[in-house]
Amino acid sequence: MRTNLMRGLLVALLVTGVVHVSGEWPGVASAEAAPYPTAQGQELPEGVTPEMIEAGAAVYADAGLCMTCHGAEGAGTPIGPPLNDTDWVHIDGSFESLVQVIDEGVMEPVDAPTPMLPRGGSGISDEDVEAVAAYVWSLSRGE
Ligand code: HEC
Repeated sequence: MRTNLMRGLLVALLVTGVVHVSGEWPGVASAEAAPYPTAQGQELPEGVTPEMIEAGAAVYADAGLCMTCHGAEGAGTPIGPPLNDTDWVHIDGSFESLVQVIDEGVMEPVDAPTPMLPRGGSGISDEDVEAVAAYVWSLSRGE
């Protein structure tokens, strides 16, 4: 009796599945529309890839010197503000604005005692600036 019930249920599920398959597959369509959904379901900005974010994490911690002032994972230090939330002082938080402020630095800091030199005073390449901007973008969105 129990087995028959289970079998009936299985058939019912299969039938529903078949009906669904012959339909429009809305789930698949929306997954294609969002090729890089982040942990919070946001799409990455135009021109940003998961590979850039990964490369940017290394630039942040090493060649870019960012971690020295902004702390591990953007937690902030007394000489550099946190970058792990969407409370921005100098920018609107878009990917473009991040690239720009990282490229130009902040010569007149609001709270910090010393300025941020262009590219944090490091000699990183344009490509690294974009990668680290992508990383900070993802940090600020809670990745
Ligand atoms: C010498 C310390 C120092 C280094 C190194 C440094 N920064 Fe900064 N950064 C600052 C200061 C100071 C500010 C401005 C804070 C203020 O206005 O009080 C700032 C501002 C920023 C802002 C804008 C924050 C906002 O709220 O508008 C971003 C983004 C940023 N830094 C990213 C980076 C990245 C990425 C790197 C590495 C390439 C880096 N910084 C290297 C000190 C530093």
